[in-house]
Amino acid sequence: MRVVISIGGSVLAPDLDSERVEAHASVVEALAREGCEIGAVVGGGGVARDYIGAARDLGANEVQLDQIGIDVTRINARLLIAALGSQVDPKVAHDYEEAGDAIRRGDISVMGGVMPGQTTDAVAAAFAEYVDADLLVYATSVNGVFSADPKSDPDATKFEEMAAGELVDVIADIEMSAGSSAPVDLLAAKLIERAKMRTIVLDGTDPSRIEPAVLRGEHSGTDIIPEGGDEPTYWAQ
Ligand code: UTP
Repeated sequence: MRVVISIGGSVLAPDLDSERVEAHASVVEALAREGCEIGAVVGGGGVARDYIGAARDLGANEVQLDQIGIDVTRINARLLIAALGSQVDPKVAHDYEEAGDAIRRGDISVMGGVMPGQTTDAVAAAFAEYVDADLLVYATSVNGVFSADPKSDPDATKFEEMAAGELVDVIADIEMSAGSSAPVDLLAAKLIERAKMRTIVLDGTDPSRIEPAVLRGEHSGTDIIPEGGDEPTYWAQ
């Protein structure tokens, strides 16, 4: 089974805690031992936001800010690589071809950001499509996709399961409301829909939740079911 796991920066490195990074790396290694081919995409988290805020105050434009964000995601990617054993490509992949080549060689491939104007949510979706992954997993700081941002709307309800088209509509609505944040961004949702990519959004603050989700589809987040898509055959075994 080929799987791309997106690990949000605020999930991997809310602070510089080597034990937390180690715990995420252990899950990736355990999945590799189970025979999974793995791509990981790492976000920038609070550190990226701090750098972007400071650079904005200094007059940087939006593309320059995104470039700073990308640099931070790649530093976080290096942290994860440092914690992974010999099976990982030691280079942070800077594009999908590099990442795809590493996976085809049998290495775990780790990416951060790729280009301005998007976030690592979209990188993970494009990476998953490029390598024809069976499954895309977003390990975020919220436990799935809600009808609204649960941090700002107490009536928000969680979807156990939803169609990819429904995900696009829900995310578009959330992104329209000022101050709300969605678990994955709109570009990522559209890429998931277009690629018909089976996707899980779950709370990855406890990394041990990722392994049963990947191996058996067991989790308490949200399943995004592509139109006409199949369950990963791996789960049927
Ligand atoms: P993240 O993917 O961590 O952004 O990338 P985010 O969604 O704001 O972070 P979380 O999910 O809340 O932790 C950090 C920043 O890097 C830039 C963007 O500015 C983004 O906000 N970035 C990242 C890009 O410009 N392009 C990319 O491909 C990735």
